[in-house]
Order: sequence, then C-alpha cells, then structure tokens
Amino acid sequence: MAREIASVGVIGLGTMGAGITEVLARSGVPVVAVEIDDEGVKRGRGHLEHSTERALSGGKLDQASRVELLDRVRYTTSLSDLSDVDLVIEAIPESFDAKADLFIQLDKITGPETIFVSNTSSLSITEIGVHTSRPGKVVGMHFFNPAPVLKLVEVVRSVVTEPDVVADVVAFAEKLGKTPVVIGDRAGFIANALLFGYLNHAVRMYEQRYATREDLDAAMRFGCGYPMGPLALLDLIGLDTAYEILDTMYHQSRNRLHAPAPLLKQMITAGLLGRKSGRGFYSYD
Ligand code: CAA
Repeated sequence: MAREIASVGVIGLGTMGAGITEVLARSGVPVVAVEIDDEGVKRGRGHLEHSTERALSGGKLDQASRVELLDRVRYTTSLSDLSDVDLVIEAIPESFDAKADLFIQLDKITGPETIFVSNTSSLSITEIGVHTSRPGKVVGMHFFNPAPVLKLVEVVRSVVTEPDVVADVVAFAEKLGKTPVVIGDRAGFIANALLFGYLNHAVRMYEQRYATREDLDAAMRFGCGYPMGPLALLDLIGLDTAYEILDTMYHQSRNRLHAPAPLLKQMITAGLLGRKSGRGFYSYD
C-alpha cells in the first residue's frame, strides 16, 4: 500500500514553486511554503492569490473553497519549519550547487523517512541525491508550466532510488490529479529532451530572419494544433530557464540540436527573459 503523504514542504515560490503549491493546496494537502526572504514570500503569496482569484472570477472555485485553499499554505523563511513534513519539493533556480547545498541542510532538519523531491528540469537526480544521507529517498518530480493546468509529472528515479519511494511518489502525483510517467535520470527526461530541440530550432529560424515571430508561432498553432507557438512558449518558460536546460542537455549529449542559439544568450544579457521580465520575443504589460 502506498505511504500516506500528509504534509509537504515546497522550497522556492517562483513560477513553478507557487504553481506546485497551488496544485497541492487544491488537492487538500497542507503545505509549508519556504522562501529565502519576506519579499520572496510576498511574491509567492501574491502568485497564489492572483491565480485563485482568476479561478474564482471564472466560476471554477467558490469563495469558501478559495479561503480553505489559501489557509492550507503556511509561509515561512525558515527551513527548520520543515522538520515534520513527509515530503519536500525543491523548486529553486537551476543551480546544481544551490540545490546540493539545500539538500545537505534539509538532511539535518527532516526525519530519515522524509522523501526529497527536486523539480529540476535537467540536472541529475543521482548527483543531487549523493549529497544526502538518503539517496534512495531522492527522486525527481518534474511539473510543467503552468503547473495548475498541465497534467504531466515526470517522476525521475536514479539508479539507487528505492522502488517503494518511486511507487509512493507516483501514487501521490495521481492523488494530485496528475498523469505521472516514470523515467531514468537523463538530462531533459522525456518531454524537454523532445521539446527543446524544436524550440531551439525556432529561435535559429527567427535569428536567420527566415520568418517573423508571428508567422513562426502561427505555423505551429494553426498548422500543428499546438496551444502556443514556440517563441510565445519560450517567453512563458523564461529564456534564462530555457538556456540552462539546453546548455545542460548539450553538455551531456553533445547533440547540436541542443546547442543554444546565440540569440538566446544575447536576449538574456539584455534582460529580455520573457513574460517574467515584461519582454522577450514579445512584450507584456
Ligand atoms: N496558472 C493557473 N492557471 C492558468 C495559468 C497559470 N499560469 N495560465 C492559464 N491558466 C488556466 C486558465 O485560468 C484557464 O482555466 P479554465 O479553463 O479553468 O478557465 C486555462 O488555464 C486556459 O487558459 P486561457 O484560456 O487563459 O488560455 P489558453 O487556453 O491559451 O491556455 C495555456 C493557456 C494553458 C498556457 C496553454 O496555452 C498551454 O498549455 N500552452 C503550452 C504550455 C506548455 O507547453 N508548457 C510546457 C512548457 S515546458 C515546461 O514547463 C518544462 C520545463 O522544464 C521548463
């Protein structure tokens, strides 16, 4: 029988962490939500309030359920508040050193049975796991943006992740209303390994003035039925995040498909990160 996961910690309340917190709270799971400072807490809380407000005004959530949902989340800036949770989900920026450091700290704070989850898009779960005293209890749970909408969760097992832990996390993802798939530890897992070659190719086509951004995006929306065109999707993902994912995959596989298009780096340097900075391939108010 699957182990009950009665409470969860989420660390990092950026786009993904806040979205994951919303998914958990919507499913009735109490969450301890951790950010580095009060400003981060304010941003994360704002994200949740805005998203649930939209659901309320769209008639998808009533006021009482919204209040209950928001009440399930306890915000803190202290990792020590995670001492009693059954599972911790890390959703901090994609820096290996920062993630490894975080798990080393969590190892001292949480009980030995607590499952450690990383939402990393491309870093190695095995390498993160060996920094802890419990590599068998370290697993990836890769959500997709926007997390409250997209059903997929890639459950990533390392060679030493305990089979029971994988089964518990799969059952937990199903409880959250998600569709889990299980995969071994390889950069990009399934979806990003397939998706990012395509996105990178679109940036190269745009860079070479092969077509306008609008026509590139329209071709994939109206010709292939994708919900968004590749350049609009890159703006949603964040150009910095996309670059990190491509770079990691390229270094692992040396597949030229994943060598980041130079324009991506130039745009990042100029502060054009996509929706989150107000401008990427498109501008946002
Ligand atoms: N948070 C919560 N809910 C959101 C949301 C968000 N950020 N964005 C949209 N929604 C909800 C809306 O409230 C709406 O809900 P209802 O149907 O219940 O009213 C629903 O999603 C549809 O939204 P819209 O009508 O505003 O717009 P849309 O129909 O164009 O859908 C979209 C927007 C869901 C983003 C859709 O365009 C889409 O699925 N795009 C593709 C996204 C994608 O491919 N993501 C994967 C990126 S790769 C990744 O995440 C991995 C990685 O490691 C980086």
